[in-house]
Amino acid sequence: MQILDCDFERLVTFVKFKYGINLQDKKFLVETRLSNYILDCGFSDFAEYCTALYNDTSGREVANMINRITTNHTYFMRETEHFDHFMNVFLADAVKNREDKTLAIWSAGCSFGNEPYNLAMCACEFLGARKREWDCRILATDVSFHALRNAKNGMYPEQDLEQLPPGWREKYFIKKAKGIYQVTDEIRSDVIFKYHNLMEPIEFKRKFDLILCRNVMIYFDERTKSMLCRRFYDASAEGGYLYIGHAEAAPYDMMYRKVKTAIYQKITHGGEGLRTTE
Ligand SMILES: C[S@@+](CC[C@H](N)C(=O)[O-])C[C@H]1O[C@@H](n2cnc3c(N)ncnc32)[C@H](O)[C@@H]1O
Repeated sequence: MQILDCDFERLVTFVKFKYGINLQDKKFLVETRLSNYILDCGFSDFAEYCTALYNDTSGREVANMINRITTNHTYFMRETEHFDHFMNVFLADAVKNREDKTLAIWSAGCSFGNEPYNLAMCACEFLGARKREWDCRILATDVSFHALRNAKNGMYPEQDLEQLPPGWREKYFIKKAKGIYQVTDEIRSDVIFKYHNLMEPIEFKRKFDLILCRNVMIYFDERTKSMLCRRFYDASAEGGYLYIGHAEAAPYDMMYRKVKTAIYQKITHGGEGLRTTE
């Protein structure tokens, strides 16, 4: 089914305003991802569907639409440099300096949960038996309820596990059926999944020691990226890190200090005593 230019422009504006996602060049994607759904719901065309979408005050229709529009592609060990930094710099420094043994970590745009579970596995690897003494639970948020439901279940097809280091599958997963693995309860209990739209103000109580927002801002325009990075900066603790995707460019007015490609740090007081390079 094809969408008329006027309906498409309105939908682009609506999605960008509400979720930051820029669909301007994604007409084909919108048509392919929504057509069957629109017909299944009994609408005759995009125009009729869009009217129902904009008039829906329950939030259900918008949630259904965003479940279909978002790109949730993710996998374990994606951009391994971040996991190396997480263990060898972030956790290594925490072990030396964090007397309260508490870390606040946020995976923003966590999709199916591979990223936050991956961090929890890295924490187990690095801290070993000491992990019991630490509170390093990870907040993981997304705007797609579909992705969050899957993430909470923590079930993955065998091929998703292929890039994990040797032995991790046996340690951190339970085989549930032929070719299907579930993350162990221990790792699952380290991650708290919540709905959060990055276009909304950040109102979590704690300041974060680490925020990951990888391969999410790629769908945002420059102004939205800039606004979001300022919000992340305000929500970061002094010395806190921000990881972004390696294919993403930081906004022109990035307030964090660049440590290395795709890794940034909040340093407001000269940074004495803070480790900024490996
Ligand atoms: C490509 S996935 C990235 C997953 C993971 N961070 C990674 O790098 O593998 C992008 C995720 O960002 C989420 N997303 C897009 N816009 C968002 C918004 N406004 N608020 C929260 N999450 C959003 C999507 O639902 C999707 O799950």
